[in-house]
Amino acid sequence: MAERPYIVGNWKMNGTRAMLSEARAIDRGAQRLMKVEVALAPPFTLIHPVHREAEQIAVGAQDCSAAPDGAHTGDISATMAADAGAKFVILGHSERRQDHGESDATVRAKAEAAFAAGLKVILCCGETEETRDAGKAEAFVTRQLEASLPETVDGAAERLSVAYEPIWAIGTGRTPTVEDVAAMHNAIRALLVKLYGEEAGNEIRILYGGSVKPENAGELLAADNVGGALVGGASLTAESFLGIVNAAAELLER
Ligand code: PGA
Repeated sequence: MAERPYIVGNWKMNGTRAMLSEARAIDRGAQRLMKVEVALAPPFTLIHPVHREAEQIAVGAQDCSAAPDGAHTGDISATMAADAGAKFVILGHSERRQDHGESDATVRAKAEAAFAAGLKVILCCGETEETRDAGKAEAFVTRQLEASLPETVDGAAERLSVAYEPIWAIGTGRTPTVEDVAAMHNAIRALLVKLYGEEAGNEIRILYGGSVKPENAGELLAADNVGGALVGGASLTAESFLGIVNAAAELLER
């Protein structure tokens, strides 16, 4: 696990102001577990309210436009997300790729726009069940990532994280084996070293995502080259999300 594991909640299209109390409770819990970096990506409408209340956790967006401004009805630019208080943005999530037809090239353009606006980026990748069953998961994911990542990133070690999220594990309660997670994260590590050099490539945190819960977080986070977790369903309550943060903190004590 990374020296400072990174546990990120992705609220997806969940949450109105009534959920600010959960965000506050997550922030208070994170203050007690400072060795773990905790962050939350609520929907756009809650970025500013969560940012105003949070003392410890970073707040982020779940997407941004590749364009800096202009006639793009309904879109939000990276600069707007940053202005609302976002410090990072999740890009290339499989739900964006599927529901909005985002290509690797689109994801790369969004990442470049996000970096230009001063945001950090969590770039997502992951294979379908058919691809995994065909034994092509690693080849698919490394190709997808290579096409989605910007060719150069200033300060990549600090500003870029990658999230490996097998599509068939998202919201299903199923997870890959620890061995499969380690094998994929090792393959991603090798790609990052190839793209960004030994130093940055080895420091970029690679998060695992897909049905992470307090009960399985310990073993998943202990796998080779797993530097944190991207958590959907289990980030919606402070109780379960902090259970995962706790599991990361416990691993650091070992
Ligand atoms: P899940 O979602 O934890 O609900 O499986 C993870 C994600 O899609 O980021």
